[in-house]
Amino acid sequence: MAEFALPKNSKITEGKTWPKPTTTANLREFKIYRWDPDDTKNPRIDTYYVDTGDCGPMVLDGLIWIKNKIDPTLTFRRSCREGVCGSCAMNIDGKNGLACITSMHDEPAGAVKVNPLPHQPVVKDLVPDLTNFYAQYASIEPWLHTTTPTPQKEWKQSKEDRAKLDGLYECILCACCSTACPSYWWNSDRYLGPAALLQANRWVSDSRDEATGERLDNLEDPFRLYRCHTIMNCTKACPKGLNPAKAIAELKKKMVERQT
Ligand code: SF4
Ligand code: SF4
Ligand code: FES
Repeated sequence: MAEFALPKNSKITEGKTWPKPTTTANLREFKIYRWDPDDTKNPRIDTYYVDTGDCGPMVLDGLIWIKNKIDPTLTFRRSCREGVCGSCAMNIDGKNGLACITSMHDEPAGAVKVNPLPHQPVVKDLVPDLTNFYAQYASIEPWLHTTTPTPQKEWKQSKEDRAKLDGLYECILCACCSTACPSYWWNSDRYLGPAALLQANRWVSDSRDEATGERLDNLEDPFRLYRCHTIMNCTKACPKGLNPAKAIAELKKKMVERQT
């Protein structure tokens, strides 16, 4: 009989409960995943209490407040705090999203539960290792490919053709979609996942690009594109309101159209 066991050190333990600030009753409880590669301990969930009168309303504000006021070792990524860089993607109350545009008051009851993006190796605490994700993005060659001589001034595009990139160019590569996709969880070594495929469709849809055939050839593989089973988690997870599942369906349609 097959026996299954969790990998060593994967079991999450109960961590430390940090003291409540005594100066206010306006507190929000945070339960945060902690893991330090420099010790041999299992991951743990630490509990913190944030003074909501002393920080902004977003989950990222709470994390920064904890780091500044309680525990400087708490590690997470952030940059723009405007929902445009994608750095602060994490799993908040069971949903992937951007900490800087997710209110800590969205879920009124209980603690705000913060974990790293699912099914990625963890570098430390809330920082996932996105090396594979970026390598997959690079593999779709996300730049303009042309063979005709470069025009003196610029590559031109009609307004109508430019509009075909709407819903694609806005992707900030936060990885919320790919790390919410069950197909990507199990096959991320071979399946490109919704983010890279949405980007692939962005270049296939660009009227100025002259490598459409090669780009589609590159996706003609049982895993790279066809592991999408239209589960739609990706579209639900996208904090920019994009629709990677639709972009993947369009790619599949273009694959069929070129056969006919
Ligand atoms: S629609 Fe495709 S890419 Fe999106 S979650 Fe489902 S399997 Fe993954
Ligand atoms: S499609 Fe949306 S969720 Fe996916 S990487 Fe782009 S912005 Fe993030
Ligand atoms: S910090 Fe840039 S998207 Fe959140």
